[in-house]
Amino acid sequence: MNREAITVPPRGREELLVRLKETQAKFGYVPEETMAELAEYLDMPINEVYGVASFYSFLSTRPLGRNVIRICKSLPCYLKNCQMIIETVERELGIKPGETTADGRFSFRLTNCIGLCDRAPAMMVNGDAHVDLTPEKIAKILQSYK
Ligand code: FES
Repeated sequence: MNREAITVPPRGREELLVRLKETQAKFGYVPEETMAELAEYLDMPINEVYGVASFYSFLSTRPLGRNVIRICKSLPCYLKNCQMIIETVERELGIKPGETTADGRFSFRLTNCIGLCDRAPAMMVNGDAHVDLTPEKIAKILQSYK
């Protein structure tokens, strides 16, 4: 094996991701102050910390609602009519992707593959998978989250 061909990510970046995940789990998002502290602690530019925090769909740089809806926007789901789910959620909640309802009940995000391609159209609400969706099913599902 050619050891020089193996790329090992710099330790700082690995630790950054671990700490960002911990922060997300603790606060529900990654506050600006925490990004600044991490940048200083890991000796990296704050724009790099922000870049990582805003890249991954499981991290958020803004506070989120009590329930987070994630809908895959990748091509396989697009071909299985994910647009119908997106439009139904928009209509039911009165918000667009990237927004949170005024009462803080839901945040709505588009993401890449959530591992439900074979059962699309599908969505995640918090950690729950909902598959083979129709507009009627979506309305019922949303009602079940308080
Ligand atoms: S490509 Fe959409 S869930 Fe996998």
